[in-house]
Amino acid sequence: MTSRPGLDCTHAPDRAAPTEDGIRLLVDRFYAKVRDDAALGPVFARAIAEDGWPAHLATMCDFWSSLMLTSGRYHGNPVAVHKRLDGVTPALFERWLALFAETCGELFDEELAAVFLDKARRVATSLQLALFYRPEHDRPRAAP
Ligand code: HEM
Repeated sequence: MTSRPGLDCTHAPDRAAPTEDGIRLLVDRFYAKVRDDAALGPVFARAIAEDGWPAHLATMCDFWSSLMLTSGRYHGNPVAVHKRLDGVTPALFERWLALFAETCGELFDEELAAVFLDKARRVATSLQLALFYRPEHDRPRAAP
């Protein structure tokens, strides 16, 4: 994996309980993988300039801290942000979740990794409903 400047957190996190340190390490490692990924990398590269990465990583730490530690630090609108992106598909969400699961598995024990992944899946589902769901496709066809 290419080495990139990220958030400075090199010691091992608590594997069993969510902490700010663990979240920083997760965010740092996960987005390093995302940026190197053949499918996800280009989508992120189009949306975030090189000098925008520290701010994005800090936002993502706030997001995960709000979800896992109820810190209330995140005040964004992920649906609006993702609607502006080019080239996002359901398959990319699967790839995102696979890399996220892999990273959680490296850093946390099974139980804690499952809690992170469950929250990520819920957000991924609601983002995909906002991005891809077309209610008209669900309507029964009119009788001939
Ligand atoms: C195909 C999957 C995904 C792609 C390609 C993607 C891409 C991106 C990109 C490029 C940004 C930065 C946009 C910008 O700053 O202009 C972003 C922001 C963000 N993403 Fe994703 N994302 C994906 C899935 C997810 C999932 C599953 C979650 C949550 C579990 C998530 C949470 C967020 C949040 C919280 C932000 C910050 C929004 C803000 O600025 O307030 N994303 N995403």
